[in-house]
Amino acid sequence: MKILIKNGQIVDPAAGVQKELDLLIEDGKISEIGRSLKASGAKEIDAKGKLVLPGLIDMHAHLREPGREDKETILTGSRAAAKGGFTTVCCMPNTSPCIDSQGVARFIISEAERAGLIDVRPVGAITKERNGEELSEMADLKRAGCVAVSDDGNPVPKADMMRRALEYASMMGFVVISHCEDKDLSGIGVMNEGFISTILGLRPIPRHAESFMVERDIRLAELTGAKLHIAHVSTKESVELIREAKARGAAVTAETCPHYFTLTDEAVKSFDTNLKVNPPLRTAADVEAIKEGLRDGTIDVIATDHAPHTENEKDVEFDYAPFGMIGFETALGLVASELVEKKVLDWKGVAEKMAVNPSKILGLGKGTLAQGAAADITIIDPNKEWQLKREDILSKSHNTPFIGRKMTGLVEYTIASGKIIYTS
Ligand code: DOR
Repeated sequence: MKILIKNGQIVDPAAGVQKELDLLIEDGKISEIGRSLKASGAKEIDAKGKLVLPGLIDMHAHLREPGREDKETILTGSRAAAKGGFTTVCCMPNTSPCIDSQGVARFIISEAERAGLIDVRPVGAITKERNGEELSEMADLKRAGCVAVSDDGNPVPKADMMRRALEYASMMGFVVISHCEDKDLSGIGVMNEGFISTILGLRPIPRHAESFMVERDIRLAELTGAKLHIAHVSTKESVELIREAKARGAAVTAETCPHYFTLTDEAVKSFDTNLKVNPPLRTAADVEAIKEGLRDGTIDVIATDHAPHTENEKDVEFDYAPFGMIGFETALGLVASELVEKKVLDWKGVAEKMAVNPSKILGLGKGTLAQGAAADITIIDPNKEWQLKREDILSKSHNTPFIGRKMTGLVEYTIASGKIIYTS
């Protein structure tokens, strides 16, 4: 099938292109970019006034299959991701059973192929059963198609285990994605430690539960020379530590998620359990530091940490609800409204944080609209105002605090391997 995208603003930082051009897709690949292109029999998309970005890549999401298909499946997650403009999603290993064997990794890839929408790449576990005690068979995980390793949802508590994990992962060519949390410090906390947790009487998670582990893992990465990626950065101190490590030349990269630059712990006054995430929402000063980290390149990636949970699980007291919110369908709208409109990033910066850099970090060979590249493309109307409605959510779960929120910037088309997988 041929698709001709006419007069869109091509935003392709990897190729150094940002201008109004036509783009032709043939046989799943980008066959031509230029002015006034013609192609007989092609489906035409009028993209005048729209942005044409490399297909978005979410390097941190939870698809819940196998094990918790009541929250999300690979099919429902793929549909929600496609609606959010994502053509590639990396799914974290905290499934049941977890992704610590070839069988589970291969199952996920084959289910994603059966769904036939986006490219799903599993992230394998660092330790068997993600329990921090014994390294996983990383060579097997590599062979089965995993693109990184992480015990996400859990830290690797023992420093010596993390050191060996970094050494071993580096031999396999894996980046280690670290969920930085000192569980002794976070304990049974449910929200950020501070004034708000005190007045609400909710158990606190101190900010240093995150930053102490960021510091430890950066030092271990420097010791081993291995590649480290810090997941879901939420504090000012973490941003500062990563900035300093990069200045020293450490092989460290980092991500944050839309909720960490959009919301603060003030929102928890509503007791809405959809605001319960791990790491927790922080303060206004942290939000500013995250934005500065995005602006100056300290934070390389925006990922969703899409974490579906059922209504039953979330419809309880704050203390008892699981951590996590869904994120695929709101990521681009929040990025456009909170970062582009507020001049933290321009669209080139968005393409870098949501396509180019995730691809580079994981070695996916994607994130460009160059001739010959796979036709993974996201077309965005940057000026479209919209409001998130519960009934429009495609994810199997609805745990988001953003229902009713007005945003500017909407995904109009998602094209994966030359196939239109979503239109607004
Ligand atoms: O909020 C979160 N939810 N943080 C995590 O680290 C795990 C995730 C989940 O799996 O629900």
